[in-house]
Amino acid sequence: SWTPGAFVDLTVSELKEKIGNDKVVLGLSGGVDSTVAAVLLHKAIGKNLYCIFVNNGLLRKNEFESVLDQYKHMGLNVKGVDASARFLNALSGISDPEEKRKAIGNTFIEVFDDEAHEITDVTYLAQGTIYPDVIESVSVNGGPSATIKSHHNVGGLPDFMKLKVVEPLRMLFKDEVRRVGKEMGIDPELLGRHPFPGPGLAIRILGDITAEKVRILQEVDHIFIQGLRDWMLYDKVWQAGAILLPVQSVGVMGDERTYEQVVALRAVESTDGMTADWVNLPYEFLQKTSNTIINRVKGVNRVVYDISSKPPATIEWE
Ligand code: XMP
Repeated sequence: SWTPGAFVDLTVSELKEKIGNDKVVLGLSGGVDSTVAAVLLHKAIGKNLYCIFVNNGLLRKNEFESVLDQYKHMGLNVKGVDASARFLNALSGISDPEEKRKAIGNTFIEVFDDEAHEITDVTYLAQGTIYPDVIESVSVNGGPSATIKSHHNVGGLPDFMKLKVVEPLRMLFKDEVRRVGKEMGIDPELLGRHPFPGPGLAIRILGDITAEKVRILQEVDHIFIQGLRDWMLYDKVWQAGAILLPVQSVGVMGDERTYEQVVALRAVESTDGMTADWVNLPYEFLQKTSNTIINRVKGVNRVVYDISSKPPATIEWE
């Protein structure tokens, strides 16, 4: 029967055999799949695995710095690329959700291609594709694959996409990927992270995106997620996050009337993201979280909780 230990041994020896002394480039996202794929490849070929971790400026608060640090501690040969300004620029003035996805996907491809060119004589592109991605053929949770088609039609393939592809996780389901990661000693907190969309906070800021809106949402999201951890609710939830609504509401602070942003909190239970139920979070938790957000985050004066299930609502609002 399948065991993570046997999978690691076999895969590492196969990768060694196949890749030899060639160089491999891999995009890390901070998610489970790309991380496990990187650690497997690192075991097989060490420094010949070149990892690139792009900050699109739409990650959770402090996420880029802390995850990059974790990657370095794992011994990975990783380059962190802060392209926040480039992404923000590409998104400027865009409100349509699909246009946002396209702008982010294309910018990612440009940044990644630039970085891949910095590595001399690279032969392989490694990806954290897992079995459900293979069946669906379009990955929902990150990786450049979902954005390839639209780009492809415009200017031809970028160079890194002409590389030979290596996908060590393509026969595994998510739970098996987590077990393989655990077997290799990856931090359980990293392995237990909620799914996070590739376009990040861009699709949780309804309407156009500015640096200030990103900052506000990062603060709100941080309070919510940290609260879930403190209340031991994080692992009971499949995915959670905050949404910045394009709405202002009237409030009062002291003797002053305020007119500020509204945020929605969303937490769902699911097994695969295809269907989902909103989570019955304790009222006390919601009360505390709402107070903390309104007291601490300047510019927000109202918090609502999303009680819609999928279908017919989706998990994200865009
Ligand atoms: P929905 O909103 O369709 O989301 O119910 C289902 C799952 O997919 C994630 N999601 C995305 N992931 N790029 C991604 O990498 C995207 O454009 C995207 N849109 C949604 C969502 O976070 C949820 O886990």
